[in-house]
Amino acid sequence: MLATVHELDSGLRIGLRLTRPSDAPRVRAFLERLSPETRLRRFFMAMPDIDERTVSHFTFYNPRERIVVAATAPLAGVEEVIGLADIALVDTGVAELGIVVDDEHQESGVGGALIEAVCSLAAAHGATHVRAELLDHNRPMIRLLERLGRTVQTMEDGHVLAYTRLPLRAERRAA
Ligand SMILES: CC(C)(COP(=O)(O)OP(=O)(O)OC[C@H]1O[C@@H](n2cnc3c(N)ncnc32)[C@H](O)[C@@H]1OP(=O)(O)O)[C@@H](O)C(=O)NCCC(=O)NCCS
Repeated sequence: MLATVHELDSGLRIGLRLTRPSDAPRVRAFLERLSPETRLRRFFMAMPDIDERTVSHFTFYNPRERIVVAATAPLAGVEEVIGLADIALVDTGVAELGIVVDDEHQESGVGGALIEAVCSLAAAHGATHVRAELLDHNRPMIRLLERLGRTVQTMEDGHVLAYTRLPLRAERRAA
C-alpha cells in the first residue's frame, strides 16, 4: 500500500509513504497551512506557532515504537504533504493514533486512505486495537474509525476516547 500512487474515489491522486528526516520543511509547511480549527482538533490546543519539537515528532522516530505515514500530492508541481497519520504502540495490542489532513483536501478520501495504511502497519506490529483521543463532535474521525472496525467511545477529562478493534489479517484479506 505504501510508496504507490492511489487514485481516490474523489479523483485525487495521492502518494502514501513513511516520513523521513528530510521531510522537515514539507511537514512544517503542512502544519503551518492548517486552520486553527484543524490544529485544535489534532493537537487539542490552538498552537499558533509550530515549534521544532512538533516537526521532529513527525520526522524523527524509532519505527519499532512509532510510525508516521504521510499522504502527498503535487501542489503547484511540487510534492507536498497533505496529510499525516502517526501511530504508537502504547500497551500490549493497543496503538495510539493521531491523524490530520489539510483543510483544502479534507472530505476527499485522504483520511480514509491514511488510516488504512497506518493501521495495517500497526496490525503487522501486533496491534489489535487503536485508541484515538478526540474533541467532542468529531464526526469525520468517528466515521473513519467505524469504517475500520467496531468502535466504542468513552469520556475522559472532557475528551472522547475512541477504541476501535482492528480487523484480523485474515478478515482483511477476505474483505
Ligand atoms: C478527521 C480527518 C483526518 C478526516 O480526514 P478526511 O480526509 O476529511 O476524511 P475522508 O474524506 O476519508 O472522510 C471520512 C469520513 O468522514 C466524513 N466526513 C468528512 N468530513 C466531514 C464533515 N465535515 N462532516 C461530516 N462528515 C464528514 C466523510 O464523508 C467520510 O465518511 P463516509 O465514509 O461515510 O463517506 C480530518 O477531518 C481532519 O484532519 N480533522 C482535523 C484533525 C482531527 O480531527 N484529527 C482526529 C483526532 S487525532
